[in-house]
Amino acid sequence: MNILIVGGTGKTGRLLISQGLEEGHCITVMVRKPNKLKINNPNLKVLKGNVLNLENVETAVQGQDAVLSALGHKQFFIKTSILSKGTMNIIRAMEKKEVDRFICITSLGINESRFRLGLYYTLFVIPVILFFYFRDKSKQEKLIAQSNLDWTIVRPGQLTNGRKRTNYQHGPNLGSYILTKMISRASVAHFLLKNLTSNLYLHKAVGITN
Ligand SMILES: NC(=O)c1ccc[n+]([C@@H]2O[C@H](COP(=O)([O-])OP(=O)(O)OC[C@H]3O[C@@H](n4cnc5c(N)ncnc54)[C@H](OP(=O)(O)O)[C@@H]3O)[C@@H](O)[C@H]2O)c1
Repeated sequence: MNILIVGGTGKTGRLLISQGLEEGHCITVMVRKPNKLKINNPNLKVLKGNVLNLENVETAVQGQDAVLSALGHKQFFIKTSILSKGTMNIIRAMEKKEVDRFICITSLGINESRFRLGLYYTLFVIPVILFFYFRDKSKQEKLIAQSNLDWTIVRPGQLTNGRKRTNYQHGPNLGSYILTKMISRASVAHFLLKNLTSNLYLHKAVGITN
């Protein structure tokens, strides 16, 4: 498949690229700083672009079969709308270029999965550190759910840099109100790629944890 990856220079995005190439996909990444990616592969095309620029996104989306998003940032204490604005651009570009399949990583703890990232996140991390970030993620999810795309929202537990597993759990009611459930970025990447050819979670938000 021809796949566009957004957030390809990030920790999960890099694993999406490597696993996607291993699976034989033709990958395009749209990144702000192409020199951050040191992968040479004939099936990888690197485009310079910013997700906040609609024209950049339209160019990147052209001719793709699917878009995977691992978009994120670390500007936690500023009231930003990077995730929702960037995602709106992806949705607009996909609708214009008639690319239907969109799989986007958000997080447990958002919307109907509220409180499911465990007590520590519910009482401290989300209200104190991730307040603006999670508010923007919530908006991001709502935009995706309102779109006409074939979307899947993937909500991981706390991310680790552990190895790829294939026996992780996935489903609509995952997570815990008490403990923080973990999942490796490598397993999340595996799950996104697996869902490219599955309709199990079409038009659904799904949790993923160990
Ligand atoms: N950390 C956790 O425990 C946890 C738990 C659940 C869910 N998540 C979510 O999982 C997702 C992936 O996490 P991660 O740790 O892999 O993320 P990450 O390493 O922070 O990567 C984020 C990516 O987004 C890109 N990006 C940011 N702004 C951009 C823009 N304007 N245009 C184009 N690209 C842009 C970054 O590009 P640059 O390299 O140019 O900055 C980077 O490639 C995030 O949405 C995160 O919130 C995280």
